[in-house]
Amino acid sequence: MKYKDFYDRFKIDYEVVENAGFNPYYPILESGLDDPVIIDGKKFIDLASNNYLGLANDPRVKEAGRNAIQKYGMSLCATPVASGYSELYQRVREKLTIFLGLESSILYPSCYQANNGLFNVLLGKEDIAIIDRSSHSSLIEGIRGSGCKIRPFLHNDMDYLEKILKKAGKYRQAFVITESVFSTEGDIAPFHEIVDLCDNYGAVPVVDDSHGIGVIGKHGKGILDHAQIEDYNGIYTASLGKALANSGGIISGKRCIIDYLKYYSSHLVYSTSLIPAALAGVEKVLEIIQKEFDEISSKFWRFKNQITNTLTNTGYEITNSSTAITSIRSGSPLQTLMTAKTFYREGILSTPFIYPSVQFNEGRIRLIAGANLSEKTIDKVSEIFTNLAQ
Ligand SMILES: Cc1ncc(COP(=O)(O)O)c(C=O)c1O
Repeated sequence: MKYKDFYDRFKIDYEVVENAGFNPYYPILESGLDDPVIIDGKKFIDLASNNYLGLANDPRVKEAGRNAIQKYGMSLCATPVASGYSELYQRVREKLTIFLGLESSILYPSCYQANNGLFNVLLGKEDIAIIDRSSHSSLIEGIRGSGCKIRPFLHNDMDYLEKILKKAGKYRQAFVITESVFSTEGDIAPFHEIVDLCDNYGAVPVVDDSHGIGVIGKHGKGILDHAQIEDYNGIYTASLGKALANSGGIISGKRCIIDYLKYYSSHLVYSTSLIPAALAGVEKVLEIIQKEFDEISSKFWRFKNQITNTLTNTGYEITNSSTAITSIRSGSPLQTLMTAKTFYREGILSTPFIYPSVQFNEGRIRLIAGANLSEKTIDKVSEIFTNLAQ
């Protein structure tokens, strides 16, 4: 009967979803990221995706994807180390490296995989990973998999970080790991200070710029430009599936590290290469943002400011976000789902975060208005939030 016991262990706790009468997870989209998106035949305003620049459904990006399919097909059906590495892959990784101002890069099928595949190659039990405690689960899982000593530091607290660094001398190597833009709150790590502390204590900084690349810094160059860091000595990772509007993950940094990962990172070496359409899509997005970033970013900033102001004026409590993310403090899991349900009923798609993605009574509802949305749509969003408050 052991066999049966095993399957009985996997029961999802639906209590909060049942109490709220709403399950916001796994919505079934019947359209691309249009304005509106379609779910269950109905129109919704997309404030849920990470399509910051609004380029996921851009005709130029789609055409680049189609051309790549025409030339290479859907997939090279091989890992990069085998025959999955094309001239397109090579070109995109070089362009991204130049865009970021780093020495070299390698592209994984996703940033989750990149963050998971990085640490077990570079860190061992002689090392210490000092990580901002609000960091993404892919980073946390990645360092856990390496067997190193782990010390979390209080979110963005540089004194706390320094205290740990002072005692880290006994380890072979210390690493300081953080997100750049924190994905649930929208605040930015004091990365210049982190890099300075790392320099002082001989630690290697590692930053996940998934919500920074394409959003902050000149031409969307991300955290390194935003924090004005030159000659970055550390390791950089980011998702290509958010502002860059495709899919994939990048690890960049010193050439020796990237060359090493190319042969020793099993998450890269044993996984089918990024598909050509996504690579060509990223290449096209890079081309577009080098010309149009100021125009595109002024649009999503305007949208973010309008939404934030409306929410503040109508009594919602929001986090201290300094990026394109607006995040509502929504309380318990039930309160969070109830608020998301109300938005959904009014035709707004949002991202509710409940425990364990956030602390138990610290629910968040994240709103991101991409630059593909129209002024009229954002006015409608303001009108909905205002009416809901009355
Ligand atoms: C901060 C952060 N890192 C990594 C990831 C994973 O990126 P990807 O979707 O490319 O696997 C995400 C996506 O949710 C993220 O928010």
